[in-house]
Amino acid sequence: MPPVANKDNSPNLILAGFMGTGKSALGRQLAKRWRRRFYDTDELVEKLAGSSVADIFAEHGEEHFRALERKVVEGLLPEHGGVIACGGGLVVPTGMGELVRSKGIVITLFASVDTILRRTAGNSRRPLLKGDDPEAKIRDLMKKREQAYMKAGIAVYTDGRSLQQLCVIVERAYEREARAILKARQAAE
Ligand code: S3P
Repeated sequence: MPPVANKDNSPNLILAGFMGTGKSALGRQLAKRWRRRFYDTDELVEKLAGSSVADIFAEHGEEHFRALERKVVEGLLPEHGGVIACGGGLVVPTGMGELVRSKGIVITLFASVDTILRRTAGNSRRPLLKGDDPEAKIRDLMKKREQAYMKAGIAVYTDGRSLQQLCVIVERAYEREARAILKARQAAE
């Protein structure tokens, strides 16, 4: 069967999950492989606000940042054909999981605390992990968010897997879902 992943009218692939689970790296890789455009909601929020994630948090607080994320999902994502990496907390607020699912096929990436700690060290785009004990912050946030992540999309565990292996796993899951959606669309026409 021909792949649906690199067709322009195929559903968006949306990658959700905690900070440092590899959403952007994997999203960029898949977009390249499928010849599709890559979007990063943090970048779109920064464009919309005209300032950095760190400044938005520092000057206006998390709630304002979440409102901007909602605006991005509601108005700035493509209808289809895109590969989108979400900011780590985007699917967490009430109603956001459903909203994101209405925009494409959602895959949630998971990683161990050790991996997350290693990957997130010293990144200014992650003000929620600033402070003396980032590990405790990761554990605490992860506990609070786990349910939201599980509900948001198809779970993929990234530990011990290379980018190449993850591409294959996510591609398979995406293709399965995309075929089901396209079939349902065709039946409704
Ligand atoms: C956040 C994750 C970050 C960024 C912001 C808040 C979160 O994105 O949106 O710092 O609440 O988990 P990444 O997951 O790309 O680091």
